Amino acid sequence: MPQPSAKVSLTGIKPTGEPHLGNLIGAIRPALRLAEEYDSVYFIADYHALTTVRDPRLLRHYTRSVAATWVAAGLDPARTTFYVQSDVPEIFELNWALSCLTGKGLMNRAHAYKAARDRNVEAGEEPDAGVNMGLFNYPILMAVDILIMESDVVPVGKDQVQHVEYAADIAGSFNHVYGSSYSFKIPQAIIPDVGTGHTLPGLDGRKMSKSYDNTIQLFLPENKLKKLVRRIPTDSTPVEEPKDPDSSAVFQILDQFAPSGSADIVAETRKRLEAGGMGWGELKNVLFEVLNTELTPLRERYDELMKPGSDLDTYLAQGAEKARDRASGVLGSVREAIGIGR
Ligand code: ADP
Ligand code: TRP
Repeated sequence: MPQPSAKVSLTGIKPTGEPHLGNLIGAIRPALRLAEEYDSVYFIADYHALTTVRDPRLLRHYTRSVAATWVAAGLDPARTTFYVQSDVPEIFELNWALSCLTGKGLMNRAHAYKAARDRNVEAGEEPDAGVNMGLFNYPILMAVDILIMESDVVPVGKDQVQHVEYAADIAGSFNHVYGSSYSFKIPQAIIPDVGTGHTLPGLDGRKMSKSYDNTIQLFLPENKLKKLVRRIPTDSTPVEEPKDPDSSAVFQILDQFAPSGSADIVAETRKRLEAGGMGWGELKNVLFEVLNTELTPLRERYDELMKPGSDLDTYLAQGAEKARDRASGVLGSVREAIGIGR
């Protein structure tokens, strides 16, 4: 349990798809471990998802599904601050105030915006074709998410480090102008330790990713999970011949997914593959059993939480209250500092 004076860690999750095994191993579990040490804040960034998700039912579904996933995976709403971004209107007020302090040039240099322009130029289009102002302003809203919760550290993947640096820059600009009245904490990006540090391979052997359409979603019914495990590619080495476990996507998933108490399943399977006599079909059965045993309790909890009026609604309502409490203190100080309100 973190001390009351613990540093604040903030994790933002964009609800743009169904969570998959790679997300659990590479993002959810490492982020949940931070709750042991930090005053931890987790939120669903639904307004960030709006830059790409245009189907209202889908956006609502992803928001609920991602929230249910984190709770099913072990997030404890009583020990953390857990909310949906759009439930905290203070964020949007601070968004305007900080937009007025942020140079347009800084936004021009943001990776995601630059990449969109480069793609357009390459395709012979207008540089800003298809770029909405939400995409352009995205880093400012993200800076607000971070600063309004007085975050010390922000665990992110490498692609998001620049955004945290921008939040630090924007905080610096504010502090320079208004620091005699109120100063933001300067946040720092951290890249969480993902255990083995490997990325989980997907159904085609490449990195498991929504963009490659090769994922195994976390809460599939058992029969679908079994079918997908069967689809992971293997070579044609006959059953009796020795096999290299490390070049097998099936083994890599087993290795990273086996719960900490079952190191012997992994070691035993490695030995049997190397010795020859274990076929890929049998390996897939082992993987299915391990995945199914690990995921069944999570799936049950997830299904419960997804029902309308479940505990999830209570958690999110209480979380929004906690988050607004934290945010309104900061916003009040900012309003005072910048000369808004009487
Ligand atoms: P996707 O590639 O499916 O779009 P995201 O980019 O939304 O996934 O990833 C969210 C988080 O999940 C990232 O921070 C990343 O660390 C983690 N992650 C995604 N795919 C994998 C994977 N195959 N192995 C390990 N971690 C992953
Ligand atoms: N931009 C992040 C992503 O694409 C999501 C996010 C929104 C976020 N606001 C944040 C992450 C604040 C960390 C802190 O994954």
